[in-house]
Amino acid sequence: MFGFWKTWKALEARGIMGINRRNADYVLKYNKRSLYPIVDDKIITKERAIAAGIHVPELYGVISTEKEIDKLDEIIGGRNDFVIKPAQGAGGDGIIVVADRFEGRYRTVSGKIIAHEELEHHISSILTGLYSLGGHRDRALIEYRVTPDQIFKSISYEGVPDIRIIVLMGYPVMAMLRLPTRQSNGKANLHQGAIGVGVDLATGLTLRGTWLNNIINKHPDTTNAVDGVQLPYWDGFMKLAAGCYELCGLGYIGVDMVLDQEKGPLILELNARPGLNIQIANDCGLTHRTHAVEARLEDLKARGLSETVEERVAFVQEMFGHIPPVEG
Ligand SMILES: Nc1ncnc2c1ncn2[C@@H]1O[C@H](COP(=O)(O)OP(=O)(O)O)[C@@H](O)[C@H]1O
Ligand SMILES: [Mg+2]
Repeated sequence: MFGFWKTWKALEARGIMGINRRNADYVLKYNKRSLYPIVDDKIITKERAIAAGIHVPELYGVISTEKEIDKLDEIIGGRNDFVIKPAQGAGGDGIIVVADRFEGRYRTVSGKIIAHEELEHHISSILTGLYSLGGHRDRALIEYRVTPDQIFKSISYEGVPDIRIIVLMGYPVMAMLRLPTRQSNGKANLHQGAIGVGVDLATGLTLRGTWLNNIINKHPDTTNAVDGVQLPYWDGFMKLAAGCYELCGLGYIGVDMVLDQEKGPLILELNARPGLNIQIANDCGLTHRTHAVEARLEDLKARGLSETVEERVAFVQEMFGHIPPVEG
């Protein structure tokens, strides 16, 4: 862990944002409490996104009560793959990604075989609030399983990589590609053991990676380099993320997106308290960038102006983009 400590200390000099500052100066300041349900409940986020014409993984069904668990078979229908997740979950907990059927059972993306009754039992746990923020009663949603675009084949292990972009008042400030590993069970959450890789905002080229708080250049399972990869549709992802401000009204969010092989870019979820490890993956602190955006907003306000999604993306790409590749 010494390496991690050294990295963190070095980042401090470069405007690293700690948890207290994030909460006081960003989450509390920019995120109105009354708007939290829009991002804290994935079913509501989906409804909002659809209303705004933003693509999301198709919702197959919702289970809200014990009695409704009987409907699971019907919701799944004849499909071989689907995802079950808690509407108010976080950090990848409680998500089951079913990739196939196997002899009357299901096979998860990491190869585990589970019976239908186990899925029912899992949903029952979701309903009791086992995975929800604050342990409140929750709902389970069953949705389309995303198949990652081929581009990720060499740098990802089972499951779906996602793209996380931190957005301040509609301005994307930092981006990270998250790659599942053998350890993370097909999920792209860093706490589950996924890798975080920084991304240049201007070009969509990946920078270096961080895994379990250590700096890495190769994927531990595939051993392929994780840096220098060109992400497709980059400007599209930037605009999608920037537009999520209008979608939810929260000023400081983490937008999680995926690239589906058939459906293209999709919004997976929004987070009102996005994690801070993104700074390690980008070798850059958030505060310089957030301050630059706040200065921009002040300036625009003084002149009675505001910017469109395209203008906001152009601004941050110019300000924070075109990072020279890291050495070593
Ligand atoms: N529909 C899906 N298809 C395939 N994988 C998914 C799907 N939904 C989630 N995942 C995987 O699980 C991870 C966490 O999902 P997410 O919806 O962001 O929930 P959480 O709030 O727990 O982070 C994603 O990054 C992705 O790797
Ligand atoms: Mg997530």
